[in-house]
Amino acid sequence: HVHCINDKKVDRNFMTELISIKDSSKHVDEEVKMHVWLTDKRSSGKIIFLQLRDGTAFFQGVVRKNDVSEEVFEAAKTLRQEASFYITGTVHEDARSHFGYEIQITDLKVVSNNESYPIGNKEHGVDFLLDHRHLWLRSKKPFAIMQIRNTMFKATVDFFEKEGFIKFDAPIFMHSAPEGTTQLFHVEYFDHDAYLSQSGQLYGEAGAMAYGKIFTFGPTFRAEESKGRRHMTEFWMMEPEMAWMHQDESLDLQERYLAYMVKQVLDKNEYELKILGRDPEKLRPTTEGNFVRLPYDDAVKMLQEAGRDFKWGDDFGAPDEGYISEQYDRPVFIVNYPTSIKPFYMKKNPDNPKEYLCADVIAPEGYGEIFGGSEREGNYEVLKQQIIDAGLNLEDYQWYLDLRQFGGVPHSGFGMGFERTIAWVCHLDHIREAIPFPRLINRMQP
Ligand code: 4AD
Ligand code: MG
Repeated sequence: HVHCINDKKVDRNFMTELISIKDSSKHVDEEVKMHVWLTDKRSSGKIIFLQLRDGTAFFQGVVRKNDVSEEVFEAAKTLRQEASFYITGTVHEDARSHFGYEIQITDLKVVSNNESYPIGNKEHGVDFLLDHRHLWLRSKKPFAIMQIRNTMFKATVDFFEKEGFIKFDAPIFMHSAPEGTTQLFHVEYFDHDAYLSQSGQLYGEAGAMAYGKIFTFGPTFRAEESKGRRHMTEFWMMEPEMAWMHQDESLDLQERYLAYMVKQVLDKNEYELKILGRDPEKLRPTTEGNFVRLPYDDAVKMLQEAGRDFKWGDDFGAPDEGYISEQYDRPVFIVNYPTSIKPFYMKKNPDNPKEYLCADVIAPEGYGEIFGGSEREGNYEVLKQQIIDAGLNLEDYQWYLDLRQFGGVPHSGFGMGFERTIAWVCHLDHIREAIPFPRLINRMQP
């Protein structure tokens, strides 16, 4: 029998394993190797405390003068913030730390060690941090947010696979504008005009007619001149599209999806939520589903009764959505908006043609709209008229009308703003922290 390095039966006394900090709990009182970076350092004579990270978690390494060679102790002393090195040591439980474990270091081999890392452990202004986003990503808060973002991405893919969807990819270069013509980024495309995609939806509808249930999930672009806390010029949107599905079933699906995604974060990211100081109990009700479906008309009454200046036909501003969301402990659907404030592709409510069969999901705690969706108009002639009424160029939409001309069926879909949903789950002050490299009206660097 030949031992190999991954053979768990190998005697641990003479074989040390390379592990990640996250897996510390599985290696208590064992000798292990790790590759780490230094985030902070403190020493008191014969003992040096190294704060370490490896991308999976943060914990403390302890170097005692009596336990290591002179060389290793000296090397530990000279380490600067963000030095990278290999360590060997024994993992111990450490009830006093967030993480719960630390490592007693016996050996250390430096890979890189330089001075003047710009981000210190003092308070920095947000502009300074955004200018150093390529480095700031290493800090605890961005770490926690990106781990949660990853859980939400994975939860999305898993959920929709279980529901029988396939991932379908929409193009980014567009020749038409699904969400209104005022927020488009114009691109020179050889000798044509092109635009960056605002939404993959119309292409997603072609996918649904081909494969039944699909979702697109990728970057989308809006040239909104907004400096608001909820707006970026580039953001990720998750857009499912379901052939043969009516709006009510789409709302059921959205509710199950959001409940599942948040449950996954609660199950997998306890450590990260703790880093963010995010109370998991604020998220718990969402995992139960049962979101209220509040008709637009009733939302208007709710605002008016609260003495707010709002009349039927107005679109909700952030403070309006904030007021509505405060009435609930979980997301709420606002359903059936007036046709005048929503895009051309939606299906009118047969019982009230002044409104569309549509819904937005409003997140709790004042985070506002995180999903928008509708049943789509499936009738060729009606859709054609809605395109004309919206002042759009019919020629650009001929391919889209083909989807109704050949095998048109009732169908519905929605779009989830990924970063807005992350901002709510993580309770962020601003959406820019929900994406690795934010693109805002006044920021494209780094
Ligand atoms: O409501 P929107 O504009 O809907 C659509 O684009 C539809 N085509 C979706 C569909 O039915 N397939 O955008 C959907 C979501 C919003 O609810 C919001 O969460 C997010 O995208 N969003 C933004 N997120 C960040 N920055 C912006 N500028 C955003 N604009 C919209
Ligand atoms: Mg919307």
